[in-house]
Amino acid sequence: MPAIIRLAELIGALSHALDLTGGQDPGHCIRTAHIGSAVGRRLGLGEAELHDLYYTLMLKDLGCSANAMRMCELFDTDDTRFKRDFKRVDGSLPSLLGQVLRHAGSRRGPLGRFRAIVAALRRGRHARELVEIRCQRGAEIARQMRFSQAVAAGIRDLDEHYDGSGRPAGLKAGEIHLSARIALAAQLLDVFNTRDGCDAARAEIVRRRGQWLDPKVVDALLAVTDEPGFWDKLAAPDLEAIVLAAEPGQKVILADEDYLDDIVEGFARVIDAKSPYTAGHSDRVAEFTVKIAEELGLSEAEQRVLRRAALLHDIGKLGVSARILNKPAKLDPEEWQEMRGHAAHSERILSRIPAFAELAEVGGAHHERLDGKGYPRGLKGGEISFATRIVATADVFEALTGERPYRAAIPAATALAMMRTSQGDHHDPVCVDALERALSRAELKAA
Ligand SMILES: [Fe+2]
Ligand SMILES: [Fe+2]
Repeated sequence: MPAIIRLAELIGALSHALDLTGGQDPGHCIRTAHIGSAVGRRLGLGEAELHDLYYTLMLKDLGCSANAMRMCELFDTDDTRFKRDFKRVDGSLPSLLGQVLRHAGSRRGPLGRFRAIVAALRRGRHARELVEIRCQRGAEIARQMRFSQAVAAGIRDLDEHYDGSGRPAGLKAGEIHLSARIALAAQLLDVFNTRDGCDAARAEIVRRRGQWLDPKVVDALLAVTDEPGFWDKLAAPDLEAIVLAAEPGQKVILADEDYLDDIVEGFARVIDAKSPYTAGHSDRVAEFTVKIAEELGLSEAEQRVLRRAALLHDIGKLGVSARILNKPAKLDPEEWQEMRGHAAHSERILSRIPAFAELAEVGGAHHERLDGKGYPRGLKGGEISFATRIVATADVFEALTGERPYRAAIPAATALAMMRTSQGDHHDPVCVDALERALSRAELKAA
């Protein structure tokens, strides 16, 4: 892996994972960045402000996974679909009611559905809490990824409305960070354009002028959409390359090895925030992965790559509903199919970054088994890379020793014994041995 990589390329690629968890059509964050940046330029922002705006637009949904579980509990529904539709709700009571009626208890029969609707309406006040979790967590992770206070503020204020009707703080007009005012308008234009076409999208923007949206931002946005070729460019297959090439600032920012680690750790937090049962999973898999790698005498550079692969192996879970991730019972065939899809999602997201080729391979193959009975491809023995075997061993060990919705945590010694009975069929014995040695060494040290 080269020592440095363009920050915009990295964030642009990872923004596709945020589209998944926000329930949006692929490319939503990239299109929003394109639209919002054009608005910023029309408003005459300087290069430094445009730079912060650009990353606010790409990362606006960083906190999206954090409220997924709470949303499922409150509305008894599928969080990714609910979120997609929630972005289109116009804030009026009939519209909000329609949203609740459409989704509440959408997986139950008529009586259960009725009960869920009544409960969801009672819990309406929790909408503020949902938004608060999302905004605060998003802003926090942006700071962890070394973005400026301005980027964090833009993400924090995303759901505030110009007329004060937004959440979580009910800020008004100029109290809302300008990047957030632009991001809200840009995201709405994209969401409505994707669903209903450009005329309807413009009409929605006009309708919310002075209510949700800053009139100054609306006027600039409408002028931008009048520019020749605007809509064609928005739909162009190479839009991502155009957006990445247009990164504002005097020079492109390169992420060195340490910065790459910070970004990867930030995204691991986004992944783990999706479910209380997987909280800390990516971190712990990374910890066990490094233990195995050290024990096997791999170089520090190799350990670093493996650690990143472990931190991001489940990034595709952002596309799986929190209701399924947290189900306290056996998954039905349809749910199981969605769950299994996370490995392919991980591979697709990570392979957008050429320097992450090895991470993409691990992400796609971490549920394969040596006997060919794994998924998604049914790879066998030597078809599974050594890096993948290491992360897969750490992954299963963490899953067994961590608490899950359907069972308590299993003690380490029992987990290792369980893995030994299936080693050779499922796990690479070399990796299981290394893990066992590393764990007993750590125990001796602690004693
Ligand atoms: Fe997984
Ligand atoms: Fe995992």
